[in-house]
Amino acid sequence: MISSFVLLGVVLVVYAVFQVINGLRTNIAKARQSGVPYIVVRKSRETWGTYTVCRAVADSHMHSHCALQSGMANDMAILEPEWSFRELNEPYRRLGESFIVVSPGRMIMFTQDADVIRQVAARREDFPKLTSTYELLALFGKNVLTTEGQLWRMHRKVTSASFNERNAAHTFAEAIHQSQGMVDKWLRQGGGTTITSIEHDTMTLALNIIGYVGFGLRFLWPGQSLPADMDPRLKKYGSLTPPAGHSMTFAESLATVLERIVVLLLTPKKLLGILPFKAVKEAAEADMNYRQYMKEFLADKIEDVRRGDRGEGGMDIMGQLVRTKYGDKTGKEPDFDDDDIIGNAFIITVAGHETTANVLHFTLLELATNPAAQRQLQADIDRLFGDSDPSTWGYEQNVNAMLASMLGATMNETLRTMPPVVGVPKIVSRAGNPVVTASTGDKLALPADMTVILSAVAVQRNPRFWPSRPSRLTGAPTDLDDYLPERWFRTEDKAGGAAGAAAADAMADEDTEDYGGFKGPDTSAQLFHPYRGSFIPFSEGARSCLGRRIAQVEIIAALAVVFQRHSLELAVDGEGIGVGDGQVAAMGRPERAALYQRAQARCRETLRGATTLLTLKLHGSAYVPVRLVKRGEERFVNFVDA
Ligand code: HEM
Ligand SMILES: *[C@@H]1O[C@H](CO)[C@@H](O)[C@H](O)[C@H]1NC(C)=O
Repeated sequence: MISSFVLLGVVLVVYAVFQVINGLRTNIAKARQSGVPYIVVRKSRETWGTYTVCRAVADSHMHSHCALQSGMANDMAILEPEWSFRELNEPYRRLGESFIVVSPGRMIMFTQDADVIRQVAARREDFPKLTSTYELLALFGKNVLTTEGQLWRMHRKVTSASFNERNAAHTFAEAIHQSQGMVDKWLRQGGGTTITSIEHDTMTLALNIIGYVGFGLRFLWPGQSLPADMDPRLKKYGSLTPPAGHSMTFAESLATVLERIVVLLLTPKKLLGILPFKAVKEAAEADMNYRQYMKEFLADKIEDVRRGDRGEGGMDIMGQLVRTKYGDKTGKEPDFDDDDIIGNAFIITVAGHETTANVLHFTLLELATNPAAQRQLQADIDRLFGDSDPSTWGYEQNVNAMLASMLGATMNETLRTMPPVVGVPKIVSRAGNPVVTASTGDKLALPADMTVILSAVAVQRNPRFWPSRPSRLTGAPTDLDDYLPERWFRTEDKAGGAAGAAAADAMADEDTEDYGGFKGPDTSAQLFHPYRGSFIPFSEGARSCLGRRIAQVEIIAALAVVFQRHSLELAVDGEGIGVGDGQVAAMGRPERAALYQRAQARCRETLRGATTLLTLKLHGSAYVPVRLVKRGEERFVNFVDA
């Protein structure tokens, strides 16, 4: 008896070893045929970020072996989960602009070649989205982010109707209003005192805006109150205390679901109500509240629609989805059920919340760290708006000029250096070995079913596609690792390498179908135009971000409101630097500049430690303390340089 178990065990082990060796051998052969440089790792976990073990061997001559040699420490770096943002372009410099990581399981190609990126993003049939990375995000229902094929087309068609210019204008107004709420919060805490909650505050800002964009609700900052004449039903969802039948307010339940989303995604449903950990309990409570709110909200919206509400008043994506299903019958209703409505309302909130908040958070920190850029930004805001009250600013009149100013340049520079989505995951269709043309002109035949990661962080710093000058900050040969919004106005510089060998080829593949979303030009004529495929914070092609315009509008509106009357400085009184206000007051400029330099170095170091769980952000307890000061009362940023 025992011996047959042992035998079975031995057989299984032998079989597993065989599988590994065989898988590895097959994959190495495929990689070799593709013409793409590759490295071999002998063991991996299935997800692309989390290699656990092993050593990798490679040389630039497109062949490799898996011997146990020493001196391969270099390639170990890319076996760790967070390598993308930590290593940036370094592995590509050694291995090639595209390279395949071969393991016994999945093969993964990483690329920082803008030509390859453009082709992969444009050819949706050959390179569908790797939806398995997002499967978990369907927890409240299927949606436009997590589907592919025909089903995705339907979701995209229904949801993209909401992403129009009228709604962008609503978003602009709400963003201005909410940003004033954020500034007021900081001022209430005492102007000139150290703010340690900037990340949390930008998250609240983004949540409050998405509450409006997604649900037509007005969420409040602490200390604010809802208008007295408000529809009592809307009051229920906007109130600062939980209404009957709920233990959390709607905003709290949404914020907590988003904050605890990883817990919700990873804890099996059956255990959610049982496990005694604080994070799980909170997540479970938020989940229950949120589902209940969604049910009630959906019922309310359906009633509105049945009573003939056409939603002309404001913005509310969920209401618009309800109208698509329950509104005037046209005979062409999409096959969309209630779960789809709730699933999409949720995904739009997820997609639009942390991403936008991080970009704003990082932009605020970079502006505090780069005083010269902050002063230029303020000069542009003065030119555009003078001393006018932000509530008088308008989307139609102002948005283009804002995007073309330092407001747009600082936002774009953050999206370039710290894109929330560090890599866009695709997969090679099972149907064949599609060929793409690399920027070198080489034809690459990509093996079916391989994962392809379009690396935003790497291509956006790739000197082959981005013009650069020597770094004044670090002395590096290029300034592509520096935060320099002014590069967005350098129209005369040309990219270093022979970019564009494959441009004509790529154009021929272009998919000209309309998938909705904003269609305006990406940059206006007088500005620097990134080479196509080299700037992909919102991805590209049919599967690109639906909320791009909304995100841009939120970010530039918030920056304009914050910096019109205030400046943002790094705090120097905190842990590690610890210089009090009295000491600073007694310092002359050179001494202050030297002190600020320490704060700048610290902030840059903290930002380099950002990691991705869902999106690129400061995880754990990392934060950068800042101060909001009235313009004219700065201690540092009125004269300090980068
Ligand atoms: C700075 C902020 C944002 C960034 C950097 C960003 C980035 C992205 C990226 C890279 C993708 C493609 C993901 C992939 O293919 O795997 C995407 C998709 C998407 N984003 Fe955004 N996003 C932002 C803000 C928003 C906002 C504000 C909304 C909605 C209000 C939104 C809604 C969506 C949706 C619905 C998709 C899925 C589109 C589809 O698959 O057809 N995003 N976003
Ligand atoms: C920043 O990017 C946006 C959208 O891609 C574009 O409209 C704008 O002109 C850019 N701004 C600058 C200064 O380059």
